[in-house]
This record gives sequence, C-alpha cells and structure tokens, in this order.
Amino acid sequence: MGIIFHEKTGTFHLFNDEISYVMTVLQNGHLGQLYYGQRIHDREDFSHLQEKTFRAMTACPFDEDGTFSLNLTRLEYPVYGSGDFRYPAVEVAQENGSTLSDFVFAGYSVAPGKPRLPGLPATYTQEEGEAETLTVTLRDELTGVEAVLLYTIFARYPAIARSVSIRNQGESAVHLKRAMSLCLDLPDSGYHWLQLSGAWARERHIIRRALTPGMTAIDSTRGASSHEQNPFAALLRADAGERQGEVIGVSLVYSGSFRLSAEVDAYDTTRLLAGINPFGFDWKLEPGERFQTPEAVLVYSDEGLNGMSQTFHRLYRSRLARGYWRDRPRPILINNWEATYFDFTEDRLIEIASKAKECGVELFVLDDGWFGQRCSDHAGLGDWVANPRRLANGVSGLAERVEALGMRFGLWFEPEMVNEDSDLYRAHPDWILRTPGRRSSVGRHQLVLDFSRREVVDYIHDSMAAILGGAKVSYVKWDMNRYITECYSAALPADRQGEVFHRYILGVYSLYERLREEFPEVLFESCASGGARFDPGMLYYAPQCWTSDDSDAVERLKIQYGTSLCYPVSSMGAHVSVSPNHQVMRMTPLHTRANVAYFGTFGYELDLNRLSQEELAQVREQIAFMKQYRSLFQFGSFYRLKSPFEGNETVWMVVSEDKKTAIVGWYRVLNQANKSFGRVRLMGLDPALEYVNSATGRSHYGDELMHCGLITSDPLSALIETGRLEQGDFESRLYILKAE
Ligand code: DGJ
Repeated sequence: MGIIFHEKTGTFHLFNDEISYVMTVLQNGHLGQLYYGQRIHDREDFSHLQEKTFRAMTACPFDEDGTFSLNLTRLEYPVYGSGDFRYPAVEVAQENGSTLSDFVFAGYSVAPGKPRLPGLPATYTQEEGEAETLTVTLRDELTGVEAVLLYTIFARYPAIARSVSIRNQGESAVHLKRAMSLCLDLPDSGYHWLQLSGAWARERHIIRRALTPGMTAIDSTRGASSHEQNPFAALLRADAGERQGEVIGVSLVYSGSFRLSAEVDAYDTTRLLAGINPFGFDWKLEPGERFQTPEAVLVYSDEGLNGMSQTFHRLYRSRLARGYWRDRPRPILINNWEATYFDFTEDRLIEIASKAKECGVELFVLDDGWFGQRCSDHAGLGDWVANPRRLANGVSGLAERVEALGMRFGLWFEPEMVNEDSDLYRAHPDWILRTPGRRSSVGRHQLVLDFSRREVVDYIHDSMAAILGGAKVSYVKWDMNRYITECYSAALPADRQGEVFHRYILGVYSLYERLREEFPEVLFESCASGGARFDPGMLYYAPQCWTSDDSDAVERLKIQYGTSLCYPVSSMGAHVSVSPNHQVMRMTPLHTRANVAYFGTFGYELDLNRLSQEELAQVREQIAFMKQYRSLFQFGSFYRLKSPFEGNETVWMVVSEDKKTAIVGWYRVLNQANKSFGRVRLMGLDPALEYVNSATGRSHYGDELMHCGLITSDPLSALIETGRLEQGDFESRLYILKAE
C-alpha cells in the first residue's frame, strides 16, 4: 500500500496489492480523475489517460486551448457553471447570489492511518499501518472557501474511503447547497447499475439495469436512509455476476437523506456521485466554520458481486462496527413483540422467558409497551419510565427476575419520537419538528422530536441513562417508526432551516455515542420499523440491526440475500416467528424458519409455550446447533450461490476462516412434480481438502464441490435414513461440510 505524488506532473497514485487510484492536477488547477481499478504499475506521467479533443458547443477556460473543456474532463470534485454541464459535487452560494466556485489545488499531505470524522460514523484503523490517508486541499481564491478531500486507502482491502471537509477561510458567510462525499468520473458507460430497493417489510430487493445516457439515481428525502432505497449501489460490467466480473461498489456511511447517482454524458463517460441529498440541503458556513461530509466507501472487485460483498463484510464487520460486541458471537434472543404485542403483564413475560430459557435462549427482550401510558401506539412515547400497572417492580424488578432465570435482559426504546398523548409532549410541545402555521402530520400517531437541539437530546439521554443505569439491561433495541415531515426547527433561524435534516441525524449519532460510551457492554440493535435505517452509519453504533419487520422465512430469503450485498451476516437480526406468519399468513416448516434465521443474529419472536412437544424438541436442537456454529455463521465468509430473485431456489453458504468447515443453506420455495436434477457449485473451499457432507455421509474434495458441484436433488437415501420426507413447499436443508 502506498500513496505517491509525482511533483513534476502533479500526479497522485494511491495503491495497494489489488487496486490503483490515479488523479492529477489539471492545467486550470482543478483535480482530475485518471484511473480507478485493478492495480497498475506506477509511472510519473499518466496524462495520456486524459483524452483531450476539440468538440463543438464546449466552453473552455483558456481561449488558446480549445481541447481543454471541463465538460470533457474527468474531475474529482467538480462545480457547475464553468463549462461542466453535468451535476456537480459541490455548490457554494455567496452573499451576492453567485454559486460559482473555482477550486484549485493548494497543497496535500499524507499521513499513516485514518483520522476520525468529527460527530460522524466512519471506518477506522486500529494500527497506523492498516491504511494511509491523503488529504488534498483545493482553494477558491475569490471566496476563501476550501474543499479538503480525504482519501484513505486500506492495506488489506480493495477499498478507498472518501469524504470532504469544506472550510470557510474567507471573510463572508457562504451557503453550502450541495457537498457530496464522493465524485468518481469513469471513462466509459459500459455498466449495469444495481440498487437495493423496497418498502416496509420488503426491504433491499435487488434491482439491476443497464446505464443509459442521462441520470440513474436513488435517494431518500425522508430524513432516514429508508426502506425504499439503501445508500448502496454497484456498477457492474454487463458480464459480471455473483462469481465473476468487474464491480465497483459504493456505500455511504450515513443514516439520513442521501443521494447516489450515475450520470452518463453524451460521450459515454459516467459520473458517480454519493452524498447527503442536496434536495433542500442548505448549510450556512460563517467565516472560520467547517462542514464535514459523511464518508463514502468505494470497493473494487474483479471477482464479481461476491468479491465486492466480502470486502464490505470484512471492512464493516471489523473496521466500522466497534466495541465489546464487535467480534463476539451474538446472544440467542427471544423478543416478545409478535408473541404479545401490547398485551402483556410481567408474569406473562416471565412465562415466555422461562420457556425460552428451558430451550437454551440466552437473552429475553422486552419490546414496545413497557413505559408511560403505552397500552397501544396512541400514547406514551417520550415517557421513558416503567408503567407500574405492567411492571409492578419497574424495569429493574423484571430484569432481576429474568436474570434469576439465568438469562440476560434487553429493552426496547424509540428515543426520537413522542406521542401527543404523553407527559413529555404536554411539557414541551415546542420540542418537535414542526413548521410554523402548518398542520403537523402524524405517522403511527407520533411526532418527531427535534434532535437537532441539544437540550432535547440531553433530556432523552438522561431518561434512557436512568433506565440503563438503574437496571440490569444488557441489550437495547433502538427503534424509529416514522419519517420526518414538516421539517423545521424552532431553535434555528430562517437561513439555517436547510440544516435541520442533517443536524437531526447528528443528534441521533451523538446520543448513540454517549450511551455507547457510558454502557460499553450493552449490545445495541438498531431498528427502524424493521429495516428503514439498515445502513453503515448505524453499524458504527449498533453492530446489528433488525433486518425487516417481515419475519416470514420465504420473504426473508430475498431480504437477507439483498442485504448481504453490502452488509455482513453478523449485522442482520433474523428471528424464527410463528406460523402462519403475521405479515403474509404463510405457513412454513419450523426447520425452514430456523434455516433462514441462522444466517443472521439468531433469535425467536413467538411464545414457545404455544408450541407442541415435538416442536419444542426441534427448537432445543436448533438452539444447540446455533450455539455450536454461530461463530461460523456470523463471522465466516458468506457466499451467495443462487438468487431468490432469479428462481425457485436460493442457495448461500458460509465458510470458516481456516476453510475446514462450511455450511450450505438450500431453500426451495414451491415444490414441483418430477423435478429436475439439482446441483450447485460451491465457493470458497480449499480445493485440496476432503469434506464430509453431513446430508449423505460421503466425502468430496473441495475442488469437486466447487467445480462439479454439490448435488441438491432430494436425497432419497438420506431421507429414508432421517425418516423425514422433505417434499412440501417452503422446503430447506443445511449441508454441513467438514474437513479433517
Ligand atoms: C417496529 C419494529 O420493527 C418492531 O420489531 C417492533 O419493535 C415495533 N416497532 C414495536 O412498536
């Protein structure tokens, strides 16, 4: 790994064993992009990669050089208005109304490691040798505004983390109308665009289409990264797939409104932009102030989507997630939500917990409904004190009873919200985001607290800290159940209202950070009506996230498969719930529900007292099995082998670091008569090791399993042995492969 600057040609080359990133100072002083992709040899001069040519209808900075136009140049941090007609990375409005800037190279520095981003989540290094960071300063002489571009290249990952800090070194205030985290201009447009889209309860479905001239974009305007779009996209060559081909992944480490876009211009170059959604964004920078953008992470793979995903998984699991739980197998939990909803008493909870304990569950989580007047979703949010009619001995009393069973205790909060029917709202009606003179829309009967205000965050902090400090709480589920409307803060002046969305999310991050520091061993699980904030920003504070409110095993195949494009198995909350399922009323076998949930942070979301003795015996086996293999599931290398978006079968697998153990999950949605033969080529095994297949007892070399494939046709002989005829719909099987 290294960062070279060739003084003579003004060329930067960032590289590690796998990738190169090359840029240069252009003749007008702007920073130009020359190459990003597989590692190439260094050279002093790469300027031939900047193809210069004369074209009609271009505007040129210099009359004497008609071949140099910003519209035809690949740029690192472009502005609009001086000849480049594509969408820009940055827009700074001056007091005179002009939005033009001229960001010219003013200097650079290189430092080992990676600096933290103030107030924001970001990847990090533990030792200096893990990465190097290049800081390039661009300066607009007229306004004194500087754009400081940060590029971190990691030694062990084909990944580059980028962000920008905008400093006002001038004498007048300016307004930042747009400050993207990353711009990457690519020399051609031969890509497909892949995005993760959906809605509540069907998050992160994979959508792929070819880029065409014009704009391809996803975004959120909701104040949260959202169910609808995820702050992740990939550009793939047309022939790239799960196993092969060139892929560039981009992921924004941010939980608020974002935008990712790819713009193909008339000459078939592609501009990739990622950052805070510029729509409605307006940040005032007084002289001396600075604005830090969120971080965007670029991953390059020449081994298809699986290669890209594994880089994201390793990086996010170990250098984005933090703290006590980062590397620890996660507790097997039971959550009472789908078992009771709001209808519970302390004794009823203990009944659920006791049966779960008998089966081997380690953590009991009390969900919504334990506080204030919260007997339905009409009241109580904001009043973080136990409801004595439900918990006679408070949270601590219940926590002690759960601990006495030999389990840990976890608790649900929705810190950012308030019901009108709550003591908090009655005391502070001005603490919500609300536009003066306008109706305040409600979502799930609740309003959004103004987390851009320090005193609001402090108040919520104090009430949560009192609960966490006063009872044995080992786990927190942090929920968020509506998007932001009428976004306006009573605490900010008119010319700062465009800051509220971002300040809100900074407030959320600050509360997370304080609670994490004060309660370092508490396991935080983020949640936002299921997966509305399943994003890298949240992973920095909470190493796991409730993947979706849809707990149906079949629906989860798509949701977990799509989520795994960017996010590791250890981050995906996945539970076995009741059948018929509460979201889709589908009836699925208990073993299939578990076979899907194992590939996540496993748990149950039902009342085990309602199961038959046979089912309970299965649950005990499932829990024992998960305890034996959870490190492999949660920290092994995950491969997607067959996509639920492309057919009736889904197959994925995990492989241990030493490659001696692998588990393949095979799932079939609908049964068919007189089926075809089935086999799937595995990945990631050691070709020379001989693996014993748990389903057949036969052994096979890794190369056979990877090239001839694992036979998945219904194994009649094994079925006869196990006595279970797996012939219905929603069938699934795990194959455990072990090498001596
Ligand atoms: C939405 C969450 O996603 C559910 O798991 C549950 O916690 C409910 N909120 C509680 O209101």
